[in-house]
Amino acid sequence: MSVLALVPAAGDGVRLGVGMPKALVPLGGIPLVVRAVRGLLDSGSVDHVLVAVREADVARVRSLFAGRPGQRPVGDAARIEVLTGGADRASSVAAALCYGARQHPEAHTVLVHDAAHALTPPELVRILVTSVAEGADAVVPVLPVADTVKEVDADGRVLGTADRSALRTVQTPQAFRMALLRRAYREAGFDPECPGTPSLSADDAGLVERLGEPVHTVPGDPLAFKITTAWDLRVAELLVAT
Ligand code: CTP
Ligand code: MG
Repeated sequence: MSVLALVPAAGDGVRLGVGMPKALVPLGGIPLVVRAVRGLLDSGSVDHVLVAVREADVARVRSLFAGRPGQRPVGDAARIEVLTGGADRASSVAAALCYGARQHPEAHTVLVHDAAHALTPPELVRILVTSVAEGADAVVPVLPVADTVKEVDADGRVLGTADRSALRTVQTPQAFRMALLRRAYREAGFDPECPGTPSLSADDAGLVERLGEPVHTVPGDPLAFKITTAWDLRVAELLVAT
């Protein structure tokens, strides 16, 4: 069964504050997007990877994947394609999904994996792909919430305390049967013929939830944490240095 991975990597990285798109920020000398794609291909479970980047970065990212002499190859370059993303994450995923559906109609399973989750272990990718192969139509990796979580109003006054035992944080990749994710994006207003990009705040699984379809979970991995802030990048640097 053919597996396609979509990698939204077209964000500006404002919260990281490095002054360049987050996906291109080096971590131990290797850009985050390269690490994320390498993790997907190292799993041995992914056939094709579509990377969505800012239009201005397409040529630069293509050359990153083409590799340089003396560099460990990211994977078979023929299996990686770089295309232009959209104005928000969902639009970037929708653009890659649309392209993927056209170019890889045989794909049964699709993974959506943020470049920002650059250190996701290949083993987690394998577990997610296996889950879909065994019949789960939507699967996400989750971790329990360690901190107490409070809801606050606009003034910062506490409204209530959440029941932490029922809460999970969600990582990527998120894995889906291709037909289901396509239906979820179509129902969310993304035209199947591609143009038209409504703005959304839900994640990919959130769009499947809106269809009333079940979303399953598997245990996530602390290494699959999202690199959002300078602190996260510092932690990631320490992790790759050890
Ligand atoms: N993303 C994308 N297209 C966008 C915005 C975000 O493909 N228009 C991607 C990012 O590149 C990232 C993932 O979606 O891999 C998750 O987004 P986030 O962590 O918010 O990254 P940025 O949007 O780059 O960061 P910030 O919100 O701090 O600017
Ligand atoms: Mg963002």
